Amino acid sequence: MTKQLTTDRGTVNLEGPVSQAKLELMDIDTGLGNFRSPLRQKEALMEIANLSEGLVYIAQIDEKIVGYVLFHYPSEFSRWIRHPRLLELGAIEISQNWQKNGLAKALLAEAFKNQALEEYIIITTEFNWHWDLKNSGLNVWQYRDMLKKVFGSVGFKRRHTDDPEILEHQANMLMVRVGKNVSKHHADMFTDLTYQHSILL
Ligand SMILES: CC(C)(COP(=O)(O)OP(=O)(O)OC[C@H]1O[C@@H](n2cnc3c(N)ncnc32)[C@H](O)[C@@H]1OP(=O)(O)O)[C@@H](O)C(=O)NCCC(=O)NCCS
Repeated sequence: MTKQLTTDRGTVNLEGPVSQAKLELMDIDTGLGNFRSPLRQKEALMEIANLSEGLVYIAQIDEKIVGYVLFHYPSEFSRWIRHPRLLELGAIEISQNWQKNGLAKALLAEAFKNQALEEYIIITTEFNWHWDLKNSGLNVWQYRDMLKKVFGSVGFKRRHTDDPEILEHQANMLMVRVGKNVSKHHADMFTDLTYQHSILL
């Protein structure tokens, strides 16, 4: 699926899920360096697109990637892997050259048109050490509020958890979107997973 978004800076194409082969032929914007170098980021997107459960959505202009959001199974070392109907939104990034033009919200809206995602609980574990405080000019609390707005636009809500990595800093947060076709049984299983240590006591 492809959708065009008209911004003050020009028209951006939003599309996905994109294949590894398609990504390979594309360029990547130099402003996509928050998590790793743009070239390494392109390789990471290709790896995820190649996973059976991996989904990559991109914002692109003239075959140059200017933003992406990706989904995959959670890490095998995390508690979340024990849930049979759970996907992780691993990252969303918009090029520094294109931020604050509505791309993140529009790309998420495009991705969540995929009805298959309604079968899943989707989490995003937000750690402040991954955030771009320097470029955004926001402090951790303002950045957290900005992310709540971005993810909240497609139905993610903050959930409390005793996950030690989340608890490491007060600004960190777990955000969760429960797809409309998720059963009560699977929703309850997820609630049990959020508070592991209290269950073990
Ligand atoms: C977070 C991120 C993806 C947002 O992308 P974006 O395309 O600029 O976001 P949007 O333009 O869709 O803006 C969404 C909302 O956040 C606000 N916002 C975004 N960046 C902002 C900033 N630096 N300062 C203030 N508000 C900001 C927008 O004004 C908008 O608010 P609205 O809903 O009231 O209109 C982008 O900042 C980014 O790539 N950051 C680095 C990677 C990262 O932190 N990813 C998230 C963790 S995985």
